[in-house]
Amino acid sequence: MGGPGGGWGVYRGARESEPPFPFYYWTTVPDSNRIMAKWIQDANWLQSLEGGIDTVHASFLHNSAEGPMVAPGAQSGNNLMFNDTRPKLDIEETAYGFRYASIRRGPDEAKHYVRITPHIMPASSYPPFSREDNRIWNMWVPRDDGTCWAWDVCFNETKPMSDELKEQLKEYRGYYAFDPKTFVKYAGPQNMWLQDRELMKKESWSGIRGLFVQDNAVQESMGPIVDRTIEHLGTTDAAIIKARKLYIKAAIALAEEGVEPPGVWEQGDYELIRSDAYVQPVDSPWKVERPLEERFAVGVA
Ligand SMILES: [Fe+2]
Repeated sequence: MGGPGGGWGVYRGARESEPPFPFYYWTTVPDSNRIMAKWIQDANWLQSLEGGIDTVHASFLHNSAEGPMVAPGAQSGNNLMFNDTRPKLDIEETAYGFRYASIRRGPDEAKHYVRITPHIMPASSYPPFSREDNRIWNMWVPRDDGTCWAWDVCFNETKPMSDELKEQLKEYRGYYAFDPKTFVKYAGPQNMWLQDRELMKKESWSGIRGLFVQDNAVQESMGPIVDRTIEHLGTTDAAIIKARKLYIKAAIALAEEGVEPPGVWEQGDYELIRSDAYVQPVDSPWKVERPLEERFAVGVA
């Protein structure tokens, strides 16, 4: 099926049960407010998707000796994310999957810095950004067991991006890091993801150019399907654990009872689903500060 916002999708199920196209929030902004790219990732779909759900890694992987990497056109700055690398995670299950808050120290003792990530089953997440910033949506779709399609959309909620800003963002995010005809990445294990040792001294801890190339490196370097039985997950992996439980539960329900997974059949108001990053009082629950829309409560829909 065709889709709005320059995206498109293919439905491969029975004709009588074809779902409507999900109008993700980024599809509702004008073309001038948006850039997008897709490429082939050399890692299993779930492994890649888990990297997108996790936001804690950003405090390390996207940091440098000279300070955090700052996206071109960033308005709010996100230094608070780098000031506290041990956030507490709190998860809320939703009709579309789940959303979670990573809660960090704020600018003073009375404040918390909260970053909210929604994960929309079965494939996409919104990394957390403040409302005034250019925002991101990602999706991962299986190709085979060891590779997947990765999508990146960078968009602005209220204003168009200039051509100059679009170019800067494409460079920053890594849109020139793959062959535009074949979607094959130039960086991979064969060349150590083009790691630059000089770059590591100042500008980037990883020494890898392009934000999502850095993500690719950590998601691919453990092999296309990592052995989960030898993992040691910690408290900041709570969102990954939740995702695995939900996907296993959904797979069993589909296999045994024919129940379609969340995010497939329900035509929710997807444009209402957004990430957030903001400062709030420490004594107020984040679910009160940023309440879930009623229609996304589990059991509603
Ligand atoms: Fe990342």
